[in-house]
Amino acid sequence: MAAVADASSFSSFLKCITKHLNLKYSVDFDSQVLKGKVALTIEALEDKFSTLTLDTKDLKIFKVTANGQEAKFTVGASHSFKGAPLEITLPFDLSRGQHVIVEVTFETSPKASALQWLTPEQTAGKKHPYLFSQCQAIHCRSMVPCQDTPSVKHTYYAQVSVPRDLVALMSAVPDGQEVDPQDSSRTIYRFRQTVPMPSYLIAVVVGALESRQIGPRSSVWSEKEMVDLAAFEFTETESMLKTAENLAGPYVWGQYNILVLPPSFPYGGMENPCLTFATPTLLAGDKSLSNVIAHEISHSWTGNLVTNRTWEHFWLNEGHTVYLERMIARHLHNEQFRQFMAMGGWNDLKEAVNTFGAKSPFTNLVINMEDVDPDDAFSSVPYEKGFALLYHLEELMGGPEVFMGFVKSYIQLFAYSSVITEDWKNYLYVYFKDKVDVLNKVDWNSWFHTPGMPPVKPEYDSTLADACIALCQRWTKVKEEDLASFGPEDIQGFSSHQIIEFLSLLLQEEPIPLSHVKRMQEVYNLNSKNNCEIRVRWLRVCLRAKWEEAVPLGLKMATEQGRQKFTRPLYRELYGFEKFRAEVVETFLKHRPCMHQVTAALVAKDLKLEQAQTPSQ
Ligand code: BES
Ligand code: ZN
Repeated sequence: MAAVADASSFSSFLKCITKHLNLKYSVDFDSQVLKGKVALTIEALEDKFSTLTLDTKDLKIFKVTANGQEAKFTVGASHSFKGAPLEITLPFDLSRGQHVIVEVTFETSPKASALQWLTPEQTAGKKHPYLFSQCQAIHCRSMVPCQDTPSVKHTYYAQVSVPRDLVALMSAVPDGQEVDPQDSSRTIYRFRQTVPMPSYLIAVVVGALESRQIGPRSSVWSEKEMVDLAAFEFTETESMLKTAENLAGPYVWGQYNILVLPPSFPYGGMENPCLTFATPTLLAGDKSLSNVIAHEISHSWTGNLVTNRTWEHFWLNEGHTVYLERMIARHLHNEQFRQFMAMGGWNDLKEAVNTFGAKSPFTNLVINMEDVDPDDAFSSVPYEKGFALLYHLEELMGGPEVFMGFVKSYIQLFAYSSVITEDWKNYLYVYFKDKVDVLNKVDWNSWFHTPGMPPVKPEYDSTLADACIALCQRWTKVKEEDLASFGPEDIQGFSSHQIIEFLSLLLQEEPIPLSHVKRMQEVYNLNSKNNCEIRVRWLRVCLRAKWEEAVPLGLKMATEQGRQKFTRPLYRELYGFEKFRAEVVETFLKHRPCMHQVTAALVAKDLKLEQAQTPSQ
């Protein structure tokens, strides 16, 4: 594997690599900072090695030592989203293969982009403050100086001191706790991560947390107000883990726990090793949302074991993970169901391509990250274009069993390493050496490097979708005077997935008139649905029809939870309702201080309050 530069990192990972990270934090809720000390075990990759660069963002650096000797350092100019390089000069030289322990004493900023600090009022329990991190893609550098690139993997050990009433958890296995010897009102929690992993998987949470065991290797954690509900919601965890192990090989991370976060958590789930972070919007008592956990479990192989070498190849993480997620669905349900989920994914891809525009470089599978903030480039494209490519290859190579053989072999071959698209493709050609002529017919350049929809549209089995397609057609074609022909029986036998599919299809059509949407509410009562995937689509249908009563409901959903996948489309739709534009902007500005800052920055761009960065391609 050739050395590859990482446009998103200043760190000098071609000269040296981090093998281990030993982290000490003291969490200060009053000043909203982490006081930290990190010892990085660094291996030189060249002779006469004496300088290195680490990534930092908004960090105060107090002191640097190398093997205990004081080292000179400078912090370079700060870049808007990449942060600032920390340049360290060792007081000695290393030869290739030698190790040095570089220790940095630092403090985070209250505006650290990885961290959200919540006041007691912003929590379910209302008594204690709360802190959580979200490092992917390039925010780890705002909580610890490091080589913040997924091309480097290391183990870690951590000790976190927190006020006695609170619990700390990390993306690692707990390794005991003790009273803080320096302050008896505090507890130190220890953690060890013995599997080498990239920096973006470092994660920490501090709050009044409780747990319930949900399986032989799994517990669910949350504030006590939600913990029983959460335990009930995630009962399928062990069967999903077993299914994933049968598909992809042994689970190497020891524990698989789930943390349910406060509503501002910006994603559905985040695959932090040993401790998936999950949005509370999954707690709707509807198993149709369980694909998020299947997805995060799947990352234990694709993403966490085999990792994208740079963010240009993010589709390797997400495309394979969606492929595995849908393989789990195939085993827990059936092939028809997988086909149906794949069709839904194609809708999502169409929507993402429409949102960016079919010429946008963000609709490429492989994205040039030069001058691009990964948060701006994030969308369903790497997930669903990636899945579509893998499904297309599955069909060409001989079906799900045959192609899963390749995916498993790819995982085992590249486990514990980081790969680029070329590594993946080369191995595909090696594995299917008897079918090279078929592979050569694939339009690789279009799939990888051409914006817009893929060059091939997969044909999925439409058995479960047919009723959704037919119902969507009825609503788009019906005349005002025939609205009486609709009734609750239209969706009687529909699963939640089918209601979602019906609404997704409707969103791909021209907006239906207000009279129709009002009738739809009368007969289906979609306002009463708590399933977030149904609710977001239904509210968007209402807002497109300019139903004024949907505005407060849309604003409510956009502000009460902060999952980007829901909050951004809702705000965009609300903004499109011109009569309410000022009110929408005002609501956002009022709510902004409570929001996760990454989400807030993206919504500010969506609402044209800030200039969006356009890539230079
Ligand atoms: N790793 C992602 C979330 C992520 C990606 C955070 C990039 C920051 C930067 C996670 O695994 C994910 O994909 N979550 C999805 C789940 C869905 C595809 C089932 C989500 O949040 O919606
Ligand atoms: Zn994912």
